Amino acid sequence: MLIPSHVGIIMDGNGRWAKERGLPRREGHLAGINALESVLRRAELLGIPCLTVYAFSTENWKRPGMEVKFLLQLFEETLLNRADELFKNNVKVKVIGRREGLPSNLIETIKKIEEKTRNNKAFQLNIAFNYGGRAEIIDLVSSIVRDIQEGKKIDLNDEKTIANYLYSPEYPEVELLIRTSGEKRLSNFLLWQSAYAELYFTDKYWPDFDGDELEKAIEDFKKRNRRFGGLNEEGGG
Ligand code: FPP
Repeated sequence: MLIPSHVGIIMDGNGRWAKERGLPRREGHLAGINALESVLRRAELLGIPCLTVYAFSTENWKRPGMEVKFLLQLFEETLLNRADELFKNNVKVKVIGRREGLPSNLIETIKKIEEKTRNNKAFQLNIAFNYGGRAEIIDLVSSIVRDIQEGKKIDLNDEKTIANYLYSPEYPEVELLIRTSGEKRLSNFLLWQSAYAELYFTDKYWPDFDGDELEKAIEDFKKRNRRFGGLNEEGGG
């Protein structure tokens, strides 16, 4: 089994990591940035071409206002502080999710980093922010309806045609989906794109996940026998 062409990660457990250490939750999120950096470096080394990480879901607005504010600020600061480094490492950054509801300065920062890294080719980093899989499907349906009203011919029975309306249709489907912190749920992450993903769950909290942990997940993936609903070579079901 080859290296997965697209890895999705639900980075979970920052709060519990902090709590175990008697630290405020924000320290867990800060440590989470370091984990992401380690994973990103190793992903590039391993030859994984595309990584999508879940940084803020459409449901995360329900958290206390202070935490939401902190996460929005942390995201913007991270984008601003890491833009040059990501650019130099030939990383192309794309932020997927709804822009409505985000502060205008954050929207500007997102646009700037996407524009700056637009022609980078070595590695694709998608950050799901204000993202929900169902919201993505609702947005896709609205776009299709709009196009049909404008007279466009659309084959509604063709999965590829429908998939072209996803937030990032240009990337391969998720082949490996990782969730940290012991939870075993999809939580509305990349619902369409993960239809055939191999799932990997680990008890490690996100701040304790790093390049070595990513490598373990990849080794596990390599042992899996992917059949996509068909039969394997020996004819087993
Ligand atoms: C889940 O832990 C984590 C989040 C909701 C935020 C993820 C953010 C980061 C890893 C850092 C920011 C990333 C970028 C790209 C700037 P939790 O708070 O749900 O933990 P808990 O379940 O233990 O409470």
